[in-house]
Amino acid sequence: MIDTHAHLDDECFSGDLSEVLRRAAEAGVEAIVCPGIGADSSEAVTRLAGEHAILHAAVGIQPNCAAEAAEGDWQRIVALVDAGSAVALGETGLDRYWDFAPFDVQQDYFDRHLQLAQKRDLPVIIHCREAESETLAMLREAFARGLLRGVIHAFSGDRAFAEACLDLGMHISFAGPVTYTNRKFEPLREAVKIVPPDRLLIETDSPYLVPHPLRGRQKRNEPALLRHTTECLAELRGIAVAQLRIQTAANARELFRV
Ligand code: NI
Repeated sequence: MIDTHAHLDDECFSGDLSEVLRRAAEAGVEAIVCPGIGADSSEAVTRLAGEHAILHAAVGIQPNCAAEAAEGDWQRIVALVDAGSAVALGETGLDRYWDFAPFDVQQDYFDRHLQLAQKRDLPVIIHCREAESETLAMLREAFARGLLRGVIHAFSGDRAFAEACLDLGMHISFAGPVTYTNRKFEPLREAVKIVPPDRLLIETDSPYLVPHPLRGRQKRNEPALLRHTTECLAELRGIAVAQLRIQTAANARELFRV
């Protein structure tokens, strides 16, 4: 399995990262993509990727952190890309759920990531929360310029949004919420079924989104828990877990070239 999204530079992993990585490997996780959420975080994940072969860094400024980005932070992101150590740009995107950064500032940074991703032929890792139409509009604008590869991470939309993203050539990555049995997540579980096998990715979004049945029992998610999401996805799609693992790992290797 490949965990395509885990924030392992988060403070909550600083005390026991080697243990977390050991448990991940034991659970069958072969590679982990760690996205940055700002310039400091992007430098931190790049450092971690240099220290642990299982980790791969993505660099970017997360929409909820866009307001805190200082003068020069974007140049630090570009410098990391120039150094050749990033497997992707991100995470980036748009978020109307939290009110942490003005929307036009989020759009400005999202556009910078899209342009740079296209210029350097890197995939882009997209966060979209309650901003589906605005995200699609910016993706369509990017596609009008040229080719773009990427993933909608921790997909939280419905079937129609999934179809629109797939039409644009995006991959779709599912996290813990597919395991939540609450009715509220029914549209998400419907979206799971329509993603073509070659566009499907999996992730934990650690330390967030602990999957069922551990949700509520432990606060911190970690890559080893990817198996719960994998089992649920396989069941929803009516295929064997082993097949889903092989398929999604192959997709992740192709998209991120890891
Ligand atoms: Ni994230």
